[in-house]
Amino acid sequence: MIYPIVVYGSPLLRKVSKEIDKDYPKLNKLIDDMFETMHVSDGVGLSAPQIGKSIRIFVIDGTALAEDDPSMEGFKRAFINPKIIEETGDTWTFSEGCLSLPNIREDVDRSGHIRIQYYDEHFKFHDKTYNGVRARVIQHECDHLEGVLFVDRIAPLKKKLLKGKLNDIAKGKDNAAYKTKIVK
Ligand code: CO
Repeated sequence: MIYPIVVYGSPLLRKVSKEIDKDYPKLNKLIDDMFETMHVSDGVGLSAPQIGKSIRIFVIDGTALAEDDPSMEGFKRAFINPKIIEETGDTWTFSEGCLSLPNIREDVDRSGHIRIQYYDEHFKFHDKTYNGVRARVIQHECDHLEGVLFVDRIAPLKKKLLKGKLNDIAKGKDNAAYKTKIVK
């Protein structure tokens, strides 16, 4: 099942999502649907709040970026109840986009190295470190679970310049190539 993407202006995207346990109903189906929704929308990452569910899951498939960045090849997995327990390394800038902010890209500064603990789709525990773009995509998706969007991390002046575009998205005028919705 393909979900519409919940876009900027939806209070749901600003909520802190809740942890789930392995008895969460139809978890495997939900994860499959999240991958499917992300693929048809040409996304690299998708968090549950972006399909209207305030729970701590996101999926990533870096295959689409692999041509430009070979480190993303084969980076496809689901993260449940993730916790970034360390963010270190030099801060670096990368141009980010987000399915919930159609047609907007901006440079965002983040730390280059993370250590994260999470459960996979079989509720197996993992403790891993990531660098570069892999870390970047995880940091972006973890932000969604805290109600944070990448435009919160850009300079105030740059955000001001985006005001018109952001207001349009919040009014349903987003020109996205995929189905979107605003959840009040
Ligand atoms: Co996003």
